[in-house]
Order: sequence, then structure tokens, then C-alpha cells
Amino acid sequence: MKYKELLIETASKMVKKGKGILAADESNPTCGKRFESIGVDSTFENRNEYRDMLMGADEIENYISGVIMFDETFRQSTTCDDKIKFPEYLSSKGIVPGIKVDKGAKDLAGFQNEKITEGLDGLRERLKNYALLGAKFCKWRAVITINEGIPSEACILSNAHALARYASLCQENNLVPIVEPEVLINGEHSIEVCDTVTRATLKCLFEQLDLFNIYYEGIILKPSMVISGDKNKKRADVNTVAEMTINCLKEMCPQKLGGIAFLSGGQTDEESTSHLNKMNKDNSDLPWRVTFSYARAIQQSALNIWVGKDSNIKEAQLMLSGRAKLCSAASVGEL
Ligand code: 13P
Repeated sequence: MKYKELLIETASKMVKKGKGILAADESNPTCGKRFESIGVDSTFENRNEYRDMLMGADEIENYISGVIMFDETFRQSTTCDDKIKFPEYLSSKGIVPGIKVDKGAKDLAGFQNEKITEGLDGLRERLKNYALLGAKFCKWRAVITINEGIPSEACILSNAHALARYASLCQENNLVPIVEPEVLINGEHSIEVCDTVTRATLKCLFEQLDLFNIYYEGIILKPSMVISGDKNKKRADVNTVAEMTINCLKEMCPQKLGGIAFLSGGQTDEESTSHLNKMNKDNSDLPWRVTFSYARAIQQSALNIWVGKDSNIKEAQLMLSGRAKLCSAASVGEL
């Protein structure tokens, strides 16, 4: 099969109608923070057990098309007797295995409070290895912060450029890149400011993707929604978020993208599903599928039930499937 057909095949599985992506790719430090909040030590074994609980939840294959993993998880196995490597286990359930390949957002030298995502050095070799281990898609997250006088053009451009170089290397290796430019929700800013920054970011991103001849049908865009800052006193309502987000995407994104899958970015469970639902309910004529690729908005309530206890696994898994089912319904506007 030619590389473009392979990319299209994977991308269309990832955004299949009624399904979305589970982001379970927290780095060890981020997983440590999540575990600290429930009083669980972030050990190799506990992380393995937690990811096993997520991926083993009943019926998730009905709502989840793909799972993004962190390097450690990608090499770990189910905890049952037959110990199946997670990529293989997911594939056997019809879920596409994916891998986070960036090395995290680091301080951008010369620009206070801004970040640049690292990880391009040696990426080609890492991608080849992940493909051999069963990965079909990758993720790279760029972070854009809103505050007084920022984001700077330097921050937007350097992150967009890195995303394009990453995407190009992924496609070279028949891996679908999830291209994630996250405009952070943190702050007092209005939804209008978020709209302006998101538009500037997407404009620059697609200029860079164009420059690198990225095959758009073979990427999944993972944007943040156009939304008020979390500390804004008059946060915009669901209708406004849905309408402004869709307008922004329609105006800034090419029509032939493989698909769009939002991050939840610190929205509550309720917000993340109602925004997605409204977008899909009111727009049956979008050029691309608009679905979810949530981490916290799918996992958080299950994590809070689990609290590291084997006796809570079943209940936590029920919660996880329940959240995935709601997100799935929202991805077709059926809530
Ligand atoms: P959240 O849904 O918790 O924002 O995480 C999505 C993600 O993958 C961040 O990179």
C-alpha cells in the first residue's frame, strides 16, 4: 500500500464516526502529579496497573478508536497471566495504538513564561523503532501561553516549525501525526483574546505545514477550544464556545484534514462534553470529523475512584467507560 493510503487508513480509523481518542500519555512527572492527588506512589508497577485498568475497561472499544501512550507504557504489558504488550492488546480490541514522541515543553530562552517543545533530535530513529513496536500514530504537543504581552511571535513560530518538522518525519515513517497546538486555558483572558491567539497560532501552523509539504489528509489536528480563560469572571457560555470554535476552525483550517480531535485542557467533564456536543449538533456539514482526544476529561473521575486499590478497579472502569460513552455521543451531537 502506498504511504498516503496507509496514512488515510489510520487517520480515518482514529476519527471514525462515534469514536474518539483516549490520551493516556502522561509523562512520568505528570502521572506523578495525578497520583499524588490521590495519595498513590508513582512507581513503575502502579503506573502499569493504572494503565492496565484504563485499557481493560469493558466496552471502551465501542467508543475509543485509539489510545496515546507514553514510552514506558508502550513497553509495558497487561497485568493478567498472559501479559500482553499494550500495543498488541489494544490492536486485538480494534483500538489503534499511538505514542507521544515529544520530550516535553521547556522554557523558551529569552522569552519569559513561554515554552518550546523539544524532541526533534534523533526523532527519525525513535519513530522507526516505535513503528516496529506497533505504533500507527504519534503525538506532539506545543504549548502557547496567554498573558500580558504574550504569546510572542517567536513562541508561535518556533513551536509551529517544530510541529511541522515532527509531522514530516512521522509521515516519512507511515505514522499519522497528531498535531497539537494547545492554547492554554490558564488566565483571566476573554474568549475573544483566546480566539485571536488561536487564529494566529493556526495561521502560522498551517504556513509551516505547507512549507514542509505535509499531506493534510494524513494528519489529525488536536486543538484547544476557543474558550474563556479559567479565571475570567464572565466566562462565555456553551453556545458561544461552540460557535466561535467552529468558526475559527472553518476559517483557519484546510478542508482536507484527516480529522480534528480536541484536547480537554482543564475543562470540567461536563464542559468538555457539552461543548463538543453542541459543535456537532449544530454543524452537520463540516468538512472533517470533530471529535475528542481527552486525557483528564475521560480519566479524572475514574482515577478518583481507583485511588490505587484493586478492590475499586471494576467501579473505576465502569466510570471510565461511562465517560467514554458520553464523549462518543457528544462527538455525533447526540447528547
Ligand atoms: P487533556 O485532555 O487533559 O487536556 O490532555 C490532552 C492531551 O493529550 C494533552 O497533551
